[in-house]
Amino acid sequence: MKKITDRIKTAILAGTTLIAPAIAFAGEGVEVNHLGVNNTLVRVTGDSNLLILPVQESIDDARINILVDGKIAETIYVRLAQSKTDFTVPFDLSRYKGHNVILDILAPHDRSSIREAKDAVCWEGIHLADSFDTSNRETKYRPLFHHTPEYGWMNDPNGMFYKDGVWHLYYQYNPYGSKWQNMTWGHSSSADLINWKHEPIAIRPDGLGSVFSGSCTIDNDNTAGFGKDAVIALFTSAGTSQMQSLASSTDNGKTFSVYPGNPVITLESEARDPNMFWNEDTKEWNLVLAHALDHEMLFFTSPDLKNWTLQSAFGKGMGAQDGVWECPDLFQLPVDGTDAKKWVLLCNLNPGGPFGGSATQYFIGEFDGKKFTADTDANGNIPTKWMDYGKDHYATVSWSNAPDNRRTVIGWMSNWQYAADVPTSQYRSANTLPREMKLFTQPDGQIYLASVPSPEIDALRGKVVSSLSGKSIGKKPTAVSLPATNSGACEITANIDAKNASSIVMTLANKAGDKVVMTYNPKNHTMSFDRRECGIIDFNENFPAVTVSPTFEQNGKISLRIFIDRSSIELFGNDGNFVMTNLVFPNEPYSTLSLKSEGGNAKVESVKVFSIKQQ
Ligand code: FRU
Repeated sequence: MKKITDRIKTAILAGTTLIAPAIAFAGEGVEVNHLGVNNTLVRVTGDSNLLILPVQESIDDARINILVDGKIAETIYVRLAQSKTDFTVPFDLSRYKGHNVILDILAPHDRSSIREAKDAVCWEGIHLADSFDTSNRETKYRPLFHHTPEYGWMNDPNGMFYKDGVWHLYYQYNPYGSKWQNMTWGHSSSADLINWKHEPIAIRPDGLGSVFSGSCTIDNDNTAGFGKDAVIALFTSAGTSQMQSLASSTDNGKTFSVYPGNPVITLESEARDPNMFWNEDTKEWNLVLAHALDHEMLFFTSPDLKNWTLQSAFGKGMGAQDGVWECPDLFQLPVDGTDAKKWVLLCNLNPGGPFGGSATQYFIGEFDGKKFTADTDANGNIPTKWMDYGKDHYATVSWSNAPDNRRTVIGWMSNWQYAADVPTSQYRSANTLPREMKLFTQPDGQIYLASVPSPEIDALRGKVVSSLSGKSIGKKPTAVSLPATNSGACEITANIDAKNASSIVMTLANKAGDKVVMTYNPKNHTMSFDRRECGIIDFNENFPAVTVSPTFEQNGKISLRIFIDRSSIELFGNDGNFVMTNLVFPNEPYSTLSLKSEGGNAKVESVKVFSIKQQ
């Protein structure tokens, strides 16, 4: 039912003709005043916690200044629905209780008349509410055991820290749509790295800009003066330019106060994604900052997290140099589980990944608290190394203060090439599984980074639904079935001796004809992952792809742990020595895995398919 606002009623009773401003229909407690082709004022006259905004994804953003008692309190960008509503998003009014709130809306400049402005379906759809339905509408593709935002867009993981038994995960978040915009720190927490609780928004844009990626640390000795054990966040304020800002939390990361002295670091060129840590050797804070367009990382020191001194730069001309360098991380790890240690510099870059778009490269070397020096190979070159050989692994960084000296990381499971086009709409993007970092040495002396699923993930294993053991396979495919319980989600383990074969072909398939083909080539020591026929692929030309990884083995034996979670596949090979993370959008869940061997028989020592325990 359309509601006629009191003002219209009054105007009609008074016999006035409504010429301008025209007051349109809207929900009760919301008054819409059109001021011209592109400008509309929405006045909130009722008293509720939420204002529900209709969104149409194909429309450009409207700029909305939120006026509170006549002053601009914040500016948000929303694709307000013009001809149809794809979904709605809530705007939180509870922060402005007892104040006058007006939305001053500047629509994209492509309307031709006031009629078109008035006809936009959003005006009838805007309404007040006290609750917002977040129940899952993405039953086909929302993962069962990976972290996703309740609704809206997510990219990089940010500011992760562990404290008092809780893993905190912040993330680049758009609360007002499922495409990139309004960068805000969303927040989730977990006691087991599997079950995530959605927490209230942690840091919102302010006058310096939106809140880009960054890190958190625990200030055990109160060096910054916000209190002992305060959680300190450093992030990039992205306004007209990029600068680094600080925020502090004294309630374990639930709420943050932005530091009034921001920004704490300014440079004359684009730099972002500060990653800081306490250096026990030098007894001062270190920070790595991505000097994005210069393809280098900058290293700073500080006694108090507020005053930072630039010490050095690393990276020009080294490793993969395409695109921009982003989201650094720097940490020390034991080599091959011994007492020897090396520093690892994570360097995300976009584009320029091995299969197009975004990816994570890393450098192994030494860091003396001021300067990072990369190890060279036998020829004196600094080799380019990749952390994951799929297309959907980006912005990976680690938790600070993780227990038991663990170095636990998580990535964004998408690719900037097509992240905004993937076939989900209530939410967009999931995180990878959390992974533990290890270093291993190859016969040529080179040290590489391995990623093993975090041990907490083992708790997901349900029943073995099908298996093979001690079976010789040849050209004729042998199939095992995937679980019907929690269908679309499972873990598969496989140990195969392929030294007498030229390739092992493992195919995931369903009755709709979709398939994913994973091929191990023991002669070339490679694994390939072909998703060109995995299901829905036509939403972006860069999505269909074959990715290839080195397998880092010498003996033709392969051991795999494969996690399938509705729209993602993570393949961990040879105890995490190689990983391939790829999204897939099957028309229906894959129901079988078939295996065959070419160029000679192979021995399947074991294959086990586990269902996933109901979460
Ligand atoms: C990486 C990135 C970061 C930036 C953030 C903005 O994906 O571009 O460099 O801080 O995303 O959302």
